[in-house]
Amino acid sequence: MLTLRTGTTEDLQQLAAWETDPDTSIWLGEIGPAWHTRALDDPDQDHLVAVEAGTPIGFAVLAGLSSADRSIELRRMVVRPARRHAGRGRALLRAALTRAYQRHTARRVWLDVKAHNDRARALYESEGFTVTDTVKGAVIEADGTVGDLLIMVHQTLEGAELAGRRDGA
Ligand SMILES: CC(C)(COP(=O)(O)OP(=O)(O)OC[C@H]1O[C@@H](n2cnc3c(N)ncnc32)[C@H](O)[C@@H]1OP(=O)(O)O)[C@@H](O)C(=O)NCCC(=O)NCCS
Repeated sequence: MLTLRTGTTEDLQQLAAWETDPDTSIWLGEIGPAWHTRALDDPDQDHLVAVEAGTPIGFAVLAGLSSADRSIELRRMVVRPARRHAGRGRALLRAALTRAYQRHTARRVWLDVKAHNDRARALYESEGFTVTDTVKGAVIEADGTVGDLLIMVHQTLEGAELAGRRDGA
């Protein structure tokens, strides 16, 4: 079973190493320990390590915890390269969403994803995210290729009901 725990400085080298995998780094912006250190030190972010049978198998970072409209960003999500294609990405996404709605009382969860990241898009869409905006030309790859960034929002009926109950609606 996959569980989430708060990340620590001891995790950083390992998480940063997963990011350097070529099939990971191309989907992310800045990578490396400094990015994680800033996330860990920022009270507005929740840096989470996914653990299975005592072994870290991925991580997720939520941001915007103190946003006035309780709109929380799933800023990054990565499954350890050797552990992919076995349902762990879906389990990690569900755990991160539960954390956002229940712990951080999110009204909605949003993210951005490169338009050609078919794998992540398929996962997000199958879990209830919809594309709400396209930022044309927002991505410039290392080889100079220009691509689009999609904004996706998760706002399920269940999430809205949870938020409504909390607000006394
Ligand atoms: C995206 C990522 C988290 C998915 O993790 P995973 O463990 O491979 O995913 P799962 O095995 O849970 O698969 C979940 C779904 O992803 C989709 N998917 C997986 N591989 C796919 C592929 N090659 N093409 C299209 N969709 C794919 C499917 O919808 C799949 O569901 P299904 O198996 O029921 O059809 C992982 O591949 C990863 O860390 N990628 C690099 C970083 C990244 O892109 N992060 C997201 C942007 S920040």
